[in-house]
Amino acid sequence: METFESKKPIYLDPNQPIDRRIEDLLSRMTLEEKIGQMCQYSGITKEYEGMIRDGRVGSLLNVFGAKETNRVQKIAVEGSRLGIPLMFGLDVLHGYKTIFPIPLGLASTWDPEVVSRAASIAAAEARADGVHWTFAPMVDIARDPRWGRVAEGAGEDPYLGSVMARALVEGYQGASLSDQNALVACPKHYVAYGGAEGGRDYNTVDISERTLREIYLPPFRAAVEAGAGTIMSAFNDLNGIPASANPYTLKTILRDEWGFEGFVVSDWNAIGELINHGIAENIFEAAEKSLKAGVDMDMQGDVYRQALLKLVEEGRISEERINEAVKRILKIKFKLGLFEHPYVDPEHAKKVIKCREHLEAALEIAKKSIVLLKNEGSLLPISKNVESVAVIGPLADDREAPLGPWSCLGDPRDVVTVLDGIKSKVSPKTKVLYAKGCEVEGSSTEGFKEALRVAKECKVAIVVVGEGREMSGEAACRAFLDLPGVQEDLVKAIYEAGAQVIEVLMNGRPLSIQWSAEHIPAIIEAWFPGIQAGYAIADVIFGDYNPGGKLPITFPRTVGQVPIYYNHKNTGRPPSQVNRWTSKYLDIPYTPLFPFGHGLSFTKFEYSDLEITSNEAGEKDTLTIRFKVKNAGKYRGDEVAQLYINDAVASVTRPVKELKGFKRITLEPGEEKTVEFTLTLEQLSFLNQHMKRVVEPGIFKIMVGSSSEDIRLTGNFVVKRYIEFS
Ligand code: BGC
Repeated sequence: METFESKKPIYLDPNQPIDRRIEDLLSRMTLEEKIGQMCQYSGITKEYEGMIRDGRVGSLLNVFGAKETNRVQKIAVEGSRLGIPLMFGLDVLHGYKTIFPIPLGLASTWDPEVVSRAASIAAAEARADGVHWTFAPMVDIARDPRWGRVAEGAGEDPYLGSVMARALVEGYQGASLSDQNALVACPKHYVAYGGAEGGRDYNTVDISERTLREIYLPPFRAAVEAGAGTIMSAFNDLNGIPASANPYTLKTILRDEWGFEGFVVSDWNAIGELINHGIAENIFEAAEKSLKAGVDMDMQGDVYRQALLKLVEEGRISEERINEAVKRILKIKFKLGLFEHPYVDPEHAKKVIKCREHLEAALEIAKKSIVLLKNEGSLLPISKNVESVAVIGPLADDREAPLGPWSCLGDPRDVVTVLDGIKSKVSPKTKVLYAKGCEVEGSSTEGFKEALRVAKECKVAIVVVGEGREMSGEAACRAFLDLPGVQEDLVKAIYEAGAQVIEVLMNGRPLSIQWSAEHIPAIIEAWFPGIQAGYAIADVIFGDYNPGGKLPITFPRTVGQVPIYYNHKNTGRPPSQVNRWTSKYLDIPYTPLFPFGHGLSFTKFEYSDLEITSNEAGEKDTLTIRFKVKNAGKYRGDEVAQLYINDAVASVTRPVKELKGFKRITLEPGEEKTVEFTLTLEQLSFLNQHMKRVVEPGIFKIMVGSSSEDIRLTGNFVVKRYIEFS
C-alpha cells in the first residue's frame, strides 16, 4: 500500500535536491502560474489576495509584520492550487526597527565587520517579522553629491564600495538563506544609476565602457561574488539602452562573465518606463525587451502580467525563457526554506526586534561612523564638568532626521536626540540650555534672538545643523550643497557673538560648508546616525569615544566643483596655483574642502618603516606592503590606514591615486602596530585600449596614509613583465 509520504509531490519533499523539486513544480504549473511567479506587487489589497489565490503573484513588497505576513502567506500556501509561498520584499537598508547610520555613514566606519553586523541584525529583525528579501545593498558609486541617493551607498570609490558591498551581502544573507535570521540581498541599481547627468535622479547616464567597468561595476561584481541571490535592474538609460532592457549588462556581463545564477528584479515599474524612455511603443514591446535582456521579475509594473501570455502565444517570447526566469525565482524560494517554513512566530519577533543587544550594536556602529572633520586647538573633547552648554539648531532635538532616508520601520519615538544625549552625559551641575534657532529650511530668522541669548549664557555652543530626513534619498536631489535655509546664518550669528562653537552636521551627502570650515574650530560629521544618534554624538563630544571614521566621499568647496573625486586623472596640465594655463578654476581653489579618506582623531598617529616586498612579477605573485602605525598622542584611538597606488606610466591614462587597501586599527597611547596588505598583480591591473585586463611593466607608486591627501609614506614597486588576465 502506498504511504502518504510516497504520494507527496516531489517539490514538497525537503529531502529531494532543490533542482529536482523545481523541475517537478515547474512541470505542474500552467503558463499563467509561471508568469505569476514573475510578478511582484506593493502592499496588499482584496484584488491582490484574489490574484494570490489564483497563483498570479510571486512576491509582494511593503508587506511586513509577523501576523500580517502569516495571514497573507496563508492565502498563497493554503489557498492557491500549488501552494507556492510568496516572497516578501522590503527596503531594509540600514536597519529594520533598530536603525543604524545611513549607508554612507556605515561606509564611513571603513570597518566591514561592523557593517556586516549591522546588516545581519537588520536581517534578523526583518526575517523575524516575516520579510525574506531586502532591496539592498545599494552599491551605486556616486561622484555627484547633488544626487540624493549618495546617502544610500558607500560613496565614490570602487574599492571601498566593493568591500562594503561584500560585507553587506554577507551580513544580510548569513551562512545560509534558510537560516531564520537571513534575508536575500538585492544589490541595486544595476547599473551606473549613480552616474546620472547633473546629479538629477533617474537621469541619463552616458559613460565610457572603461568607466563602467572600472568604476561602476566592481561593487556589483563583489556583491555577486559574495553570493547575492538577486539583483535589481535600474531605471536609468545607460549609453542609449535603459538598464532594465540592456542585454550587454544583464546577460553578457552579469551572466556570462560573472556567472550570476540568481534572479533579476526590475526597479519599480522600470519595465513600464521603457515606454517613456522611447525604446518601446507599448507594454508588449517593453515586456519583450526586458525579459529578453534578462529581467526575471517585474516590480509593481503589472507589465509582465498583462503582456507575457500574449507574447508567448505569438511566439515572441519562448516558454523556455519563462521557465528560466521561474526556475531562478523558485530556486531562491527553495533556498529560503519557504516551502518548509512559510510562517514566522510573532512571539519570536517580539523578542528579537529592538532587543538590547541590537540597540548596543546600533550605538557602537553609530560611534564608529562619525567623522571628525576639524578640531582646531583640540577644542574637542570637552569636559563633562563644563559649567554650561548651549545646544542649538533645528536638528538638535529632532527625532526624525537622525533616522535618515529609507529608515524602514524606524520609529522617531525611539530616537535619542543630540539634546537627550548631551543631557545624559554632562555632570549634574552642568547647565544645559536649548534653542532651536531656525527650521532646517525656510527663511525665518525669528528664532535667532533666543539662540543668541542661550549661546551668550554658556561656555560652549553645540550647533546641530544639516539636512532634513527627506532631503536625501530617492528623488531628493539638490542643486546647491550649502546648509539649507538660514542655518549658515545661524551658525555665523552664534560664532560672531563670541561663542565657542562646535558644529555637528547631520546630512545625507557632502555639504559645501566652506564658511564653517574656515571659521568654526570643531566640526563633527555625524551623517544620519540612526536611533542612538544622541548618545553616539555626545560620546564623541565629551571624549568617551575617540572618533575614527573617514569620509567615503569628497566634500567640495562649492557645487561648482562637482564632480570632484580623488581618483581623477592627471590631465596634460595638472592644476598649479602659480600657472594660469592649467586645469583649475579662476575663482576657487581646485582642491576639495575635505578629501576622500579624511577624518581626524583626538590622538595623533605616526607612520613609519614602509617595506615593500615582492617576488618576480608573475601572474600568481603577490606584493606585500608593510608599515608601522603608532599612537603618539594621549588618547586611545582608531586609525584607518589607507593604501593607494598609482601606475606611473601605462598605455592608457590612469588615476592619480587608487585605493587598494585599508585597515581600521585601534591603538592605545604609545602603542604601535604593523599593518600589512597583500596585493595580487591582478589588483594592479587595468583595462587596456582593447579592454583587456593587463598589468604592464613599469613603476607603481605606493602611497600610504591617513587620507587620500594626507600621504605619510611613499615607495615604489616595479613590475617586470607584461601580464594579461583572462
Ligand atoms: C527605488 C528602489 C526601491 C524600490 C522599492 C524604487 O523607487 O528606486 O531603490 O528598492 O523603489 O521600494
